[in-house]
Amino acid sequence: MAHRWTNDLTRDDVTPKALYLNRRQWMAGAGAMLGAGALGGRARAQGDMELNSFEDITSYNNFYEFGTGKTDPSNYAHALTTSPWSIEIDGLVDNPGTYSFEDIVEGQTIEERIYRLRCVEAWSMVIPWHGFELADLLTRVGVQEGARFVAFETLVRPEEMPGQRRAILDWPYREGLRLDEAMNPLTILATGLYGEAMPNQNGAPIRLVVPWKYGFKSIKSIVRISLTEEQPEATWNMQNPREYGFYSNVNPNVDHPRWSQASERRVGGGLFSSRIPTRMFNGYEEEVAHMYEGMDLSEYF
Ligand code: MTE
Repeated sequence: MAHRWTNDLTRDDVTPKALYLNRRQWMAGAGAMLGAGALGGRARAQGDMELNSFEDITSYNNFYEFGTGKTDPSNYAHALTTSPWSIEIDGLVDNPGTYSFEDIVEGQTIEERIYRLRCVEAWSMVIPWHGFELADLLTRVGVQEGARFVAFETLVRPEEMPGQRRAILDWPYREGLRLDEAMNPLTILATGLYGEAMPNQNGAPIRLVVPWKYGFKSIKSIVRISLTEEQPEATWNMQNPREYGFYSNVNPNVDHPRWSQASERRVGGGLFSSRIPTRMFNGYEEEVAHMYEGMDLSEYF
């Protein structure tokens, strides 16, 4: 499929410009970063987009199926069997069915996308994902008229996921997007990062990445995608609707009831651990703000 990103890289220098790069641009801008030498290192992609290291990205995680600690996923996720893997696609689609991971990725153009990830807990990272647009998959399976939302589920396998042996959350982990959000070109299904297959702790073998929303919307290790008419259940929203909205767009002007969302801590130590201002829609306003025109974002938070 065509890349739609080239022009974005010529934007005003005042704002960070490497919001996303396709693979070729990324390779040109960052040299041989995908080689082994890049792993564990910190490298400058372009402008002020300082990539987090492979180490940061794979050792400081939220994946409650493995426990609530930041190092539980890296300690326990190696036990997760990720092959074979299949995803059930159902609801208002022309071609429902159980698709193997291989079926899903076959024929997709895998591209690099360097995105900021902003957790609702007010830490953030910059991650070089690779994957493909969710829109491509939805188009392939055929979205039927009447579908207004897309629902996602993570697997339930307490034998391999120690966090699921306790009722920390109402398993399976569930998330959802409005159909236009799901079809937005920024929304990807990621199959890896830093040129490696997706590490288990980051949501192997396939996870959602929605960069303008708080990180909890980016559901990991997906086994089901359903096209629905009604707004689907979403784990954190069900857990505490006062604290976590269905939309959960990154918004520095709407605080979490228990903490400010005006700034964030960039994970990674040294200079970059100082707090930086949080940006509206996590810096992707130009690409996504039009979807929320006329909505009161403090009501639909
Ligand atoms: N997906 C599942 N299935 N379970 C989770 O606990 N945590 C979410 C999200 N996806 C989570 C999940 C949260 S809170 C964040 S911030 C991101 O994953 C973290 O992604 P990362 O660990 O790859 O940085």
